[in-house]
Amino acid sequence: MTCATPLFAASLIPSSVTAALPEGYHMRPLQRTDYHGIRSVLSVLTTVGDYNEDEWHERFDWMHKRNQEYFVVVITDKNDKLVATGSLIVERKFIRSLGSVGHIEDIAVAADQQGKKLGLRIIQALDALGANAGCYKSILDCSEKNRVFYEKCGYKLAGIQMAHYYDGGKAKDAPKEAL
Ligand SMILES: CC(C)(COP(=O)(O)OP(=O)(O)OC[C@H]1O[C@@H](n2cnc3c(N)ncnc32)[C@H](O)[C@@H]1OP(=O)(O)O)[C@@H](O)C(=O)NCCC(=O)NCCS
Repeated sequence: MTCATPLFAASLIPSSVTAALPEGYHMRPLQRTDYHGIRSVLSVLTTVGDYNEDEWHERFDWMHKRNQEYFVVVITDKNDKLVATGSLIVERKFIRSLGSVGHIEDIAVAADQQGKKLGLRIIQALDALGANAGCYKSILDCSEKNRVFYEKCGYKLAGIQMAHYYDGGKAKDAPKEAL
């Protein structure tokens, strides 16, 4: 695998979305050389954690083998700095006539680049990738503070998020009966 290997085919990103980016900005698939850039931009979202470049490559290669399922897009600025990212995971189901659902995850725009419609362009690209992959819908979880952003991207409230966190293979806060 060459160094700048893209995660998936760049031609899948619609030119209508890339054309709408501010001048000097580019959208492309995540590539194998993006270890530092992606860690930096994801840190606006949550804890990125402790792992080295080799371990990151291992995860990248795992996703690359499943490049009909894992789509991570990034935007770079005029200085070729990675400034925004978002992911789409395609889940294949036994319902809806063996339909597929897109899961939108890890949307992040660098703090000094927010408000330039980069988040919107990332969502538009992921929506197009989901539709192209045959998904009948894409869904996402978000905090209340980001609800308006996703509404402006065309998403509608369609339920509530439930979560059960795990720690060392065990559920945290499990009800007594389940222990
Ligand atoms: C939320 C986030 C992705 C938005 O990206 P962005 O590039 O700043 O947003 P955009 O410029 O594309 O905004 C598109 C529209 O949504 C609006 N918008 C963006 N964030 C908003 C928010 N938190 N609340 C209300 N409206 C918001 C913008 O004003 C704009 O509206 P307009 O079309 O009327 O001008 C970005 O702020 C971010 O990365 N935040 C930190 C990480 C995070 O919370 N990620 C989401 C995880 S679910």
